[in-house]
Amino acid sequence: MQEKIVILDFGSQTTQLIGRRIRELNIYSEIIPYNKYPYGKEKEEGIIGVILSGSPLSVYDKDAFRIDFEKLTGRVPVLGICYGAQLTAYNYGGSVESAPSREYGRAHLEFIDPECPLFHGIEKGAQVWMSHGDTITALPEGFECVASTSHVTFAAFQAPETMGQLWGVQFHPEVFHSTCGMQLLQNFAVDICGASRSWSAESFIETTVAELREQLGNDRVILGLSGGVDSSVAAVLLNRAIGKNLTCIFVDHGMLRKNEFTDVLRDYECLGLNVIGVDASDKFFADLAGVTDPERKRKIIGADFIEVFDAEASKITDARWLAQGTIYPDCIESLSITGTVIKSHHNVGGLPERMNLSLCEPLRLLFKDEVRAVGRALGMPEHLIKRHPFPGPGLAVRILGEVTREKVEILQNADHIFIQGLRDSGLYDQVWQAGVILLPVQSVGVMGDERTYERAVALRAVTSTDAMTADWAHLPYEFLAKVSNEIINKVKGVNRVCYDISSKPPATIEWE
Ligand code: XMP
Repeated sequence: MQEKIVILDFGSQTTQLIGRRIRELNIYSEIIPYNKYPYGKEKEEGIIGVILSGSPLSVYDKDAFRIDFEKLTGRVPVLGICYGAQLTAYNYGGSVESAPSREYGRAHLEFIDPECPLFHGIEKGAQVWMSHGDTITALPEGFECVASTSHVTFAAFQAPETMGQLWGVQFHPEVFHSTCGMQLLQNFAVDICGASRSWSAESFIETTVAELREQLGNDRVILGLSGGVDSSVAAVLLNRAIGKNLTCIFVDHGMLRKNEFTDVLRDYECLGLNVIGVDASDKFFADLAGVTDPERKRKIIGADFIEVFDAEASKITDARWLAQGTIYPDCIESLSITGTVIKSHHNVGGLPERMNLSLCEPLRLLFKDEVRAVGRALGMPEHLIKRHPFPGPGLAVRILGEVTREKVEILQNADHIFIQGLRDSGLYDQVWQAGVILLPVQSVGVMGDERTYERAVALRAVTSTDAMTADWAHLPYEFLAKVSNEIINKVKGVNRVCYDISSKPPATIEWE
């Protein structure tokens, strides 16, 4: 059984970050909703420690999320963070009150109990990040304060030994600004919980390949490749496990980046994948003719994709499985403020049921950076691994209005200049995602002695960690000037370039 630290989610925005930080320590972690803890089954499940996350709620809210501490403590070590700490204190008879002003931002630990194992190796003065509206004003009987800041007396506490190993910290060790946070999490997970730190890309590949062989036996598997990192890594991993029993299908809808279909297909073949490339662009363009509504465009592309994929997959008559590059953030059940568990997991439009295939998702436990690490350990080329995310409907959602072959070609050429420019200037890896948008606007310009009346494009580049929020990338003016010049000089039909400086929210990354 895989040993793991469980993070019980009370709905905080940083819950996933706690999970990632633990994984960065080479320890496997799992995030589960606060009301789904397998009480009493720690041994069977391999649980060696539990972290209680923060929450947007107050412990004294009528509908505050609660857990059964009596059944939890004493079995494995427990660490409460922020709300998790307040809930612990409140549960055992301490007081939690609304702070006179929200404690937010950097603070420094002015007192640390030198005996407390949670703070080993952390010096007085260490920086922590506070973000809470409530604060603990009295500890339960027998609990000890083990760290304070100038504003927060009970920045951290420890329960008496008789209650099992139980701590709480009111700051957020998981965020970057808590400079001692990793040390604290390591103290908890390694020293206190006894984690062996054996989770790595290599160990993941070894166990997953063995599991896939066991699960799939001699069955045939179909996988839809998109050119993106996740489906590519899933394919290479499955190829290692079952070789030629895996058939990959890569559909060209005609709205990929310039040369992408041929380049990526070549990469896949070099990786030894058994891949079928299907050029279905005529069908997609025909079905999109005259359509301008963004949602209709997406629906048509989605339905066409399924039809094309289905037709190709049906030729593999003895296939039993459909593999997908679903990753952990797609699977984590997130909590809404009402405590309802929401799962935002899409699979390819109901295909598995329709085709009577079982679903195989070998990356379902990995965060994006771990998928990349696995890809590297599998020997995949860096340009495939570091590829920016690209939307399934492709350039269709970057052409405002009707999609035609002519517009796609203009956009591909402009996009190619922008992306190549980012690569050449060493900026590609600094942005999360970038692309060009073809606007449904023509404007007046002058070229030589001629008046022009041509199209405008917008450049979009964002920084982000998960695409949920994003900021526009502050690219150097000189770089933008160079790209703008090159696009206007080289891409026929474009005489104006703008730069999109909207963040998400309230804008989105894509324009449609
Ligand atoms: P937005 O525009 O919602 O995009 O801020 C967030 C992320 O999702 C990508 N995206 C898509 N990916 N199919 C996909 O596979 C889609 O229909 C789709 N729409 C947006 C977008 O590129 C960004 O990374």
